Amino acid sequence: MKKLTLGLAAAFTLALAGGAMAQAYPARPVTMIVPFAAGGPTDIIARIVGDHMSKTLGQQIVIENVAGAGGTTGITRAMTAAPDGYTIAMGHLGTFSAAPATYPGLKYDPLNGMQTIGLAGGTPILIVAKKNFPAKDLKEFVAAVKAAPDKFNEAHAGVGSVSWTTCTLFKGVLGVPKLNAVAYRGTGPALNDLVSGQIDFMCDQIVSVSEQIKADTIKAYAVASAERSPALPNVPTTKEAGLPDYQIEAWNGIAGPKGMPKEAVDKLVDALNKALNDEPTKKRLLDLGAVIPSAEERTPAGFQALIKRDADKLTPVLASAPK
Ligand code: MLT
Repeated sequence: MKKLTLGLAAAFTLALAGGAMAQAYPARPVTMIVPFAAGGPTDIIARIVGDHMSKTLGQQIVIENVAGAGGTTGITRAMTAAPDGYTIAMGHLGTFSAAPATYPGLKYDPLNGMQTIGLAGGTPILIVAKKNFPAKDLKEFVAAVKAAPDKFNEAHAGVGSVSWTTCTLFKGVLGVPKLNAVAYRGTGPALNDLVSGQIDFMCDQIVSVSEQIKADTIKAYAVASAERSPALPNVPTTKEAGLPDYQIEAWNGIAGPKGMPKEAVDKLVDALNKALNDEPTKKRLLDLGAVIPSAEERTPAGFQALIKRDADKLTPVLASAPK
């Protein structure tokens, strides 16, 4: 009798385990780590794309902001999580291509230790300043910064972030390696201080500054892309504004820890693709100035190639940059 009870219990446990294993991904909410403060470009892209991905997946994508160390704290958390598809991250040009050159002891390896999902959005870089900055165009701005590098405060989101990386390149072009820099937990909070005039300028991604530029609460001197942004047609390119050597494209994309089940990867890639094909989602991104990724960039391999291309470009420049 006792033997029979045990046998039944074992069979019941096995049936339960089998049921759990058969449960399709995702069986519960998926955490998407945003490695910067809420309200910044990474957070904005993650929330717009994540909204639609949740519908496709039938489970909520929960955004968790884990800021610090130029975004590397949050990405480390994501890449050292269990590779089960329930923890992923929205990273970017900074955390995936620039950070390895700036943090020698980095605990994640974007090139060999991540499962890429796909690119979520291109985010052109703008040189923006507080509304009453005393320069009417990029040439005057450059002249002012070169003449008195100690006089102006640059905001960025930490060493290795996009704002830090792109302003480091900007200062390289100007030949002014070091300025007074103020590090924030993301450019969302930095933008608040730019609007209130507490800092002078920053190099930021279009999606978080375009509304403030349109509302005329901050100044935009140039966009560092080959073409003007359709979202800000009045802002000249750096080439038009007299600084053709300063060109850089930023981007945001999704990855998780290496070793994720194929089913999870496939479903996340499909959900990202559907989000980027959805007209209202596209419109939200385009209105803010984001660039919609190509079909190739939305694939794990295409995104991986982009990370490597930009890491190869940035590593020699950033390794010797003042931190
Ligand atoms: C953010 O979301 O705050 C930014 O992506 C920060 C940055 O990298 O500049």
